[in-house]
Amino acid sequence: MRVCVIPGDGIGPEVLAAAAQVLRAVAPDAELREAAAGWAAFQRHGAALPAETLAAARAADAVLFGAVASPSHSVPGYRSPIVQLRRELDLYANIRPTTNGQRPTANKVAVDLVVVRENTEGLYAGRERLEGGGDTAIAERVITRRASARIVRAAFELARSRRTTNDQRPTAGSPKVTIVHKANVLRVSDGLFRAVALEVAAEYPDIAHDEMLVDVAAMRVAQSPERFDVIVTTNLFGDILSDVACIHGGGLGLAASANLGESHALFEPVHGAAPDIAGKGIANPLAAIECVAMLLDWRGRAAPAARVRAAAAGVLSAGPRTPDLGGTSTTADVAAAVIDRL
Ligand code: NAI
Ligand code: MG
Repeated sequence: MRVCVIPGDGIGPEVLAAAAQVLRAVAPDAELREAAAGWAAFQRHGAALPAETLAAARAADAVLFGAVASPSHSVPGYRSPIVQLRRELDLYANIRPTTNGQRPTANKVAVDLVVVRENTEGLYAGRERLEGGGDTAIAERVITRRASARIVRAAFELARSRRTTNDQRPTAGSPKVTIVHKANVLRVSDGLFRAVALEVAAEYPDIAHDEMLVDVAAMRVAQSPERFDVIVTTNLFGDILSDVACIHGGGLGLAASANLGESHALFEPVHGAAPDIAGKGIANPLAAIECVAMLLDWRGRAAPAARVRAAAAGVLSAGPRTPDLGGTSTTADVAAAVIDRL
């Protein structure tokens, strides 16, 4: 198994070092190859996603991605490498699970939901321009029948597989897909997304579905997350909703995600480069370690994936913990404790 490891910037290299240790421990045959991307790579090579990195990602069986620091102002020649990778490798489904099952401080309600986010178009299509001498900025929101149909299908397939593989959920036995949009205002673009989603839903009579406007969905995910199973939505809405959802799972330090296509897969923590804590050695590596479990699962290696999750769950409840979870331990302490349990 060849794994392309792209550490990136900030805490990306710190959490991926921990994840790589864990991967080596449970899959000694894995060949890990590092490749550069991000802001530091841009300064060094003049490209945020060097051609060699894209080629290495394409050639690998899976990609582990840390985080990159993309400036919020426009820098000529810089484009977010993760957005480029998703598009180049056609990683159209961004799967972002949230569960509080392993969380020691969890309140009574069990949360186990997945946000399935369209990953290749919408407002992230990269079609932005200035007009009127620079005083008007326009972003085009691209929604296609093809991309909408395949992401909604991915959501229904996921809902079906969760029913058979995980009975512990509060929603067990009653899988449901919630279609989230804003078709009342974005009548044309989300009108198409909604119409296609309902067509696809009709192909899955065994799985319940409902629809919700994105603003209401944000409130409900914050307030009563236990009511959700699988949420499917467009690119930007999914990005925001999944950050809201991850609060219930213990925050950004624990939130992992998969970017899946027909022939490639990339696993990354939901968090970014965290410049406020970078270099201090205190980033929580558990999100990156959960990425290793997701990667192994995707490669059909369920047993080592389960071992990684059990070890991480043990550390989560017994410690050591990083400061984001109220502890005083370091990234390396947590990684060592996970390896110990393995
Ligand atoms: P962020 O996710 O980097 O940080 C948000 C807050 O969460 C910070 O206070 C940070 O310290 C904390 N945090 C994040 N991950 C943590 C971890 N593993 N352990 C403990 N605390 C953690 O988001 P922010 O600050 O908005 O963005 C910082 C940079 O990251 C920006 O340059 C942004 O463009 C980039 N970014 C990159 C992403 C990616 O590579 N996929 C995703 C999101 C942001
Ligand atoms: Mg985000």
